[in-house]
Amino acid sequence: MTRPDLIIMKMGGSVVTVKDSPLTANLTAIDGISKIVLELRKKYKVIIVHGGGSFGHYWSVKYDMHTKPLPYSDEGISIVHESMLQLNHIIIKKFIENRLKPYTLQPSTFVYRGLPDSDKIESILDITTKNDIVPVTFGDVIHTTENNFSILSGDTIMSLLATNLHPKYCMFLTNVDGLFGDINKRNLLHEVQLDNLDSLITKTDTRSSDGDTDNSPFDVTGGMKRKVSESIPIVKSGTPVYFLNGFEPQRMLDIIEGKDYVGTCFKLKPISQI
Ligand code: IPE
Repeated sequence: MTRPDLIIMKMGGSVVTVKDSPLTANLTAIDGISKIVLELRKKYKVIIVHGGGSFGHYWSVKYDMHTKPLPYSDEGISIVHESMLQLNHIIIKKFIENRLKPYTLQPSTFVYRGLPDSDKIESILDITTKNDIVPVTFGDVIHTTENNFSILSGDTIMSLLATNLHPKYCMFLTNVDGLFGDINKRNLLHEVQLDNLDSLITKTDTRSSDGDTDNSPFDVTGGMKRKVSESIPIVKSGTPVYFLNGFEPQRMLDIIEGKDYVGTCFKLKPISQI
């Protein structure tokens, strides 16, 4: 059963960092999103996930670290994790400056030995229920088993959180307007139903319009394709997933206000057929 007062969103690395510039946050974009989150908070609880962009991905490429659990370099593990803490700190400071009340939860607080802990995920809601806190988490390097670690992408975290918490909306903010049926024609897909998703993954170009969004030189976790595949269990669990341009954050308001919006929505079936 859906929680009608909950939104879970991911601020992609391509939005919160300057993708071709190592270790550079995009403060303007973070500022713009945080102002809209303040608006969303008037009606909804909001849980935020952010990606790594030119912070985490920059280092994970250098140390050849991936989503596969392996005994990666200890130095790489420390450095990738530290860079995510750094980016998180920048984001949190900007949020506080804009009167949001963020509270960071490292993924290791709800993922144990590589597996999600449902009770801990459920408890994230307690944090938001009686106060104004906005929980913020992020893609990270996590311990899995023995001496293995892996990169846990923010997209996977979206799926873990949404399938446990059943928000009304899931929103992926990237640096493009949504998903395109054909990248060359730039035809934005406005609505995609779950039945069509498999063919969407194989047939359509899920890259961004500039061809390398989330396939930027710093992306080790799979780009747009991963977002699409991680959104399948979310849609199956009853939550529509929106792909929106994070540089136009007011589009999130258009959605919750039931207005026309620019973006792509994945849903189970048209409302009329449910
Ligand atoms: C990446 O998270 C985390 C690390 C590389 C440590 P994501 O994979 O969610 O980041 P973006 O949004 O694609 O940049």
